[in-house]
Amino acid sequence: MISQNTINEILNTAQVEDVIQDYVNLKRRGVNMIGLCPFHDEKTPSFTVSPAKNIYKCFGCGKGGNPVNFIMEHESLSYPEALRHLAAKYGIEIEETQKTHEQKQEQQLAESLYLINKFAAEHFHHNLVETDEGKSIGLSYFKERGFRMDTVKEFNLGYAINSYDHFTKLAVEKQYNIELLRKLGLVSRSDYDFYRGRVIFPIHNLSGKVIGFGGRILTENKKAPKYVNSPESEIYNKRKTLYGIYQAKTEIRKQDNCIMVEGYTDVISLHQSDVRNAVASSGTSLTKEQIRLVKRYTDNITVMYDGDGAGIKAALRGMDLILEQDMNVKLVLLPDKEDPDSYVKRVGTAAFKDYVEKESKDFILFKTQLVIEEAGNDPIKKATLLRDIVESISKISDTLKRSVYIQHCSKLLDIEERILVAETNNAIKGEIKKKRLEKDRDALREQRSKARAQSQAKIANAKPSSSASDDDNPYQYMERGEDDGYPRSEDVYEPEDPKQEIQEYKRDATIDHQERDLTRIIVTMGHRWYDDQETITVAEYIYQNIADMLDYFSSDLHKSMILLAYNNLDQIENWNTLFTNHQDEEIRSEAITFMASPYTYANWSDKGVELQTQKEPSENFEKDSYQAILRFKIKKVKQLILETERELKKEDISPDDFVINMRLLQKLQEQRNFMANELNTVIL
Ligand code: CTP
Ligand code: MN
Repeated sequence: MISQNTINEILNTAQVEDVIQDYVNLKRRGVNMIGLCPFHDEKTPSFTVSPAKNIYKCFGCGKGGNPVNFIMEHESLSYPEALRHLAAKYGIEIEETQKTHEQKQEQQLAESLYLINKFAAEHFHHNLVETDEGKSIGLSYFKERGFRMDTVKEFNLGYAINSYDHFTKLAVEKQYNIELLRKLGLVSRSDYDFYRGRVIFPIHNLSGKVIGFGGRILTENKKAPKYVNSPESEIYNKRKTLYGIYQAKTEIRKQDNCIMVEGYTDVISLHQSDVRNAVASSGTSLTKEQIRLVKRYTDNITVMYDGDGAGIKAALRGMDLILEQDMNVKLVLLPDKEDPDSYVKRVGTAAFKDYVEKESKDFILFKTQLVIEEAGNDPIKKATLLRDIVESISKISDTLKRSVYIQHCSKLLDIEERILVAETNNAIKGEIKKKRLEKDRDALREQRSKARAQSQAKIANAKPSSSASDDDNPYQYMERGEDDGYPRSEDVYEPEDPKQEIQEYKRDATIDHQERDLTRIIVTMGHRWYDDQETITVAEYIYQNIADMLDYFSSDLHKSMILLAYNNLDQIENWNTLFTNHQDEEIRSEAITFMASPYTYANWSDKGVELQTQKEPSENFEKDSYQAILRFKIKKVKQLILETERELKKEDISPDDFVINMRLLQKLQEQRNFMANELNTVIL
């Protein structure tokens, strides 16, 4: 691992304009520099570099970050790789942190395994292009399939000689460790070659290292499997791997879309036909990890499967997983009996791209269409399939997106929107309940095993036992409202009467303007002194004022940014970089957005309040932070008022609850009036 010292040195040394000028022609424009964005096509420059803040931001495509992010994005490198790249540029010596003995051993093992795979891949490739057997059997097979020589090279394809020990002998001769050869599945347990007379597809990780192999049979042999693949090992985790990601990652980012196919040959064929953003799940159904891997490069996935029944079924599987990761999913069904490989070969690149463009359907809308066709007029069938659609919609965590789908589907299915809303909410609630039950169960289990251990200890110590306290109640675990990463109950809006529903929906869509504004002030100006005596910073002031309301934050991102600020109040010197250089991608990019235009406030004018600061906004942060706090609190209080009013309207409310809620309502209204008054005074 690169030490924190080195990281700091790199971050402090790398000048954004200097780094970017290696790739982009920049012109000075006031305090900033501008140029044509390297991340999207544009004719007039909207790519802005701020040397003072050491960040860049494109106002066209929204990409932005610090010098390290630029290198990551532009060169498709990981964070440590980008750091090493910059260290080399600036001649900074990299100090590695001390690793534990275990870590060192792990790394050594991984390196040995990579080395062996590299040797094997080179060996297979050599067989393919240099030996008679390889050329006449393997290479001619690839040629017959239309693979060009440059493609064979790029994917490092190979051939395994049809012999029991050709490879094993050579590897042992070269003193590669036999245990490790077995571990990698290159040599069988009885010391035979694992791949014999097959063409070889090496599987690469993100940085291009060979982590495994797939070997395809060349004969029609019903008994032998078509492909044999490497077993999992310390360096090969199938769930986390996508075939072709190394060759496709840059193009996926550029096109902001990833085409997901099934097979090795589909990826290679598409790639050769200039469709370079394709990867394969290699026959297994998609996993969460694979989707997260894609999400590093784009939010858009186009899944491409055969157009027959099995293909559709396969395509529908795994979709909900993609939705859960908040990706946009499109589906392309190929004509019957075609796979991407055969189809692109038959129609050619242009027609293929055209087909994808015309035929890709939004997944949920596709599913809806399917329901309409399949169910016909059968109401029972329709209901079952409807539940399926609702299930998919409920996986989307973005409320706005969800509501757009609901609108669409309601039109397509001719079902009232509020019914779909109610159904979706039920599905979400069901999910929350399920997760809670699971969590409860886990907590209970933990409690039990603790109790068991305790009682065993007690018996061992033979002391009189104390009675169990209420603290042991596992259900308490759930009440604390800590973030469990699951849909929050606030995500569910109750359709009581239609008007209320609309109000609630709007609330969700706009809820975080105030939170975001508070966060913005904290990130951009939190390190300034709030008072002339220099006793409290802006960040601390804001935090003190809203600490008790952090639980009501609707955005976990902003909440965690505020907590980050609170935990680092003394870091005044490098305050902004605390956020702009943060490890968490979301925090970083939100901070960069703030830094790029720190004074664009949320649009209040529609609410009849304008920000009336006369001075340069940067000089007015006391007033601005006070206003922002008031706005935030007013909003939350208004919500509480609404909720209390609703409580009061319930028919079955008990007399006691009625009185309590009436009092609460009064208090809340007083607070709201006081704050509204304050706000007016501040503004005027
Ligand atoms: N697969 C596998 N083992 C098998 C069959 C398939 O691992 N016995 C995986 C491979 O990763 C393969 C993918 O599933 O690439 C898709 O299978 P298929 O469509 O049958 O293979 P293709 O790659 O299309 O091979 P070809 O075009 O040569 O038939
Ligand atoms: Mn195929």
